[in-house]
Amino acid sequence: MIDHIRVAREAALTAIAGASSLGDLASVDTEVLGKRGALARLKAQLGSLAAIDERREAGRQLNDALGAAADALVSRRAQLTAAERAARVERERLDLTEFARKPRRGRAHLVTQAWERLEDVFIGLGFQVAEGPEVETDWHNFEALNMGATHPARSDFDTLFVDHPGAEAGRTVLRTHTSPVQIRTMLAGAPPIYIIAPGRVFRRDTPDATHMPVFHQIEGLVVDRDISLAHLAGTIEAFTKAFFGAEFTSRLRPSYFPFTEPSAEFDIRTPAGDWLELGGCGMVHPNVLRAGGIDPEEWSGFAFGFGIDRMARERHQVGDLREMFTGDIRFAEQF
Ligand code: PHE
Repeated sequence: MIDHIRVAREAALTAIAGASSLGDLASVDTEVLGKRGALARLKAQLGSLAAIDERREAGRQLNDALGAAADALVSRRAQLTAAERAARVERERLDLTEFARKPRRGRAHLVTQAWERLEDVFIGLGFQVAEGPEVETDWHNFEALNMGATHPARSDFDTLFVDHPGAEAGRTVLRTHTSPVQIRTMLAGAPPIYIIAPGRVFRRDTPDATHMPVFHQIEGLVVDRDISLAHLAGTIEAFTKAFFGAEFTSRLRPSYFPFTEPSAEFDIRTPAGDWLELGGCGMVHPNVLRAGGIDPEEWSGFAFGFGIDRMARERHQVGDLREMFTGDIRFAEQF
């Protein structure tokens, strides 16, 4: 009996050590420690041993063997679990350097490219970059720009209004142009002022080939002593040549804006002789200077504003403005 127990014990430990996977080990487990395993069968035979000493000794050996097998199972299971986890980690490893080695080079959006070049050119002309909020008060967007509540020019701006708790209806707008930054800049500091303000603006428009409800403008504002229309025309001309090229020229055409007097539209002439309408400009209206806390007897200034998207569209011959905002990387990659 004692011999049989020793043999069964060795066989059990060998089987456990030889299990090569957790699945394997589970069947070894039932085989070795189960009711029909060799050790269990020997246990069942204990009762048939006549000599009490032999029975006690055999019992002790059997319990020993079962304990050793159970311990061996636990440690083999731990080994196999660790090995399988390591194998899985290796299998599922993501080598990010494989991607880093081959970066996919993106492209700045056409509008971003134009925006950044505009900033570069105007900074080169001595301007600083200013900004203001996209959600504006009616006062900054209209009233301070010489458009009182009943001014008919307000209807030229298809205004989007913002409703929010505590707000009086119709007093908060999505800015319809970058001109409110003129007011904010004047209120923030004394002249001389030489700023540009590129930014996003909003109008209630149905998207089509030449209109988007969200678009971009760049504003310019100069306030200093003895500023005249000649400074405005000269600045537009200098900008035109710096931005488009030496063969381009500009012209001003009389126009109307409530916040400038006199007002003009400015056009750019291409080397081929075509005229592109670019934007509006004029001498800052005395009421606007006053709203900005500046004495119109002491200071004068000019302002201009034009659409960045439209300019980028003309420059790159994009047929439909909507193409520019589909978010398709293949579009951006063309430029
Ligand atoms: N804010 C005007 C517009 O959106 C453009 C403009 C700016 C005109 C500054 C004159 C001076 O149409």
